[in-house]
Amino acid sequence: MKITYYGQSCFLVDTGKHTLLFDPFISPNPLAKAIDISSIKPDFILVSHGHGDHVADVETIYKQSDSPLLISNFEVVNWFGEKGLENARPMNHGGKAHLDFGTVKMVNAIHSSNMPDGTYGGNPAGFVVEAGGKTFYFAGDTALTMDMQLIKQQYKIDFAFLPIGDNFTMGIDDALIAADFVGTSHVIGMHYDTFPPITIDKEDVLAKAKQKNIDLTLITIGETFNL
Ligand code: NI
Ligand code: MN
Repeated sequence: MKITYYGQSCFLVDTGKHTLLFDPFISPNPLAKAIDISSIKPDFILVSHGHGDHVADVETIYKQSDSPLLISNFEVVNWFGEKGLENARPMNHGGKAHLDFGTVKMVNAIHSSNMPDGTYGGNPAGFVVEAGGKTFYFAGDTALTMDMQLIKQQYKIDFAFLPIGDNFTMGIDDALIAADFVGTSHVIGMHYDTFPPITIDKEDVLAKAKQKNIDLTLITIGETFNL
């Protein structure tokens, strides 16, 4: 499995058979200015909630891709449907979808959600994905929540994408507890450095993770991590 980081919470997961793009926010992000978004043509686009720093490039990337499937909550899917993004799978919390790549379950996130134009964006979510022989958790934007313990009861999580930037989401301390809650020792950090309130000290967060025996990966924007 190959994971490419495009900044903020945007990752392309390549299972070898399918490509899944999460929370595309690339063109407005100065940290990702070297990324050529015209080359990104995923099979699936998964969106955790309606905030601009998760949906900014959904429409562009959807329209340049070969009939991708947009996966998000009912409200986000409807909003994009009005823009002509009609190949979609609306979901809601607690539901699992069986798709070409495997399965995706929509799980709880504690956050807020509205679309860039102010339209109600439904409840924010995370995803548990089974694909390419691995099981992973993409938390979206969320606080630490006891609900994460439910994930460990049902899945063996190989790795988790967790926000670590604090202020709008969990910071590193809560993210390390979240890793324990979902039952993984491998975390891929996201939602940091994009805006001044979420700037992190990388050495500090890596040291904190090491102290708790968590393998924290911070992928450089534009680079691909193999696992
Ligand atoms: Ni958000
Ligand atoms: Mn966000």
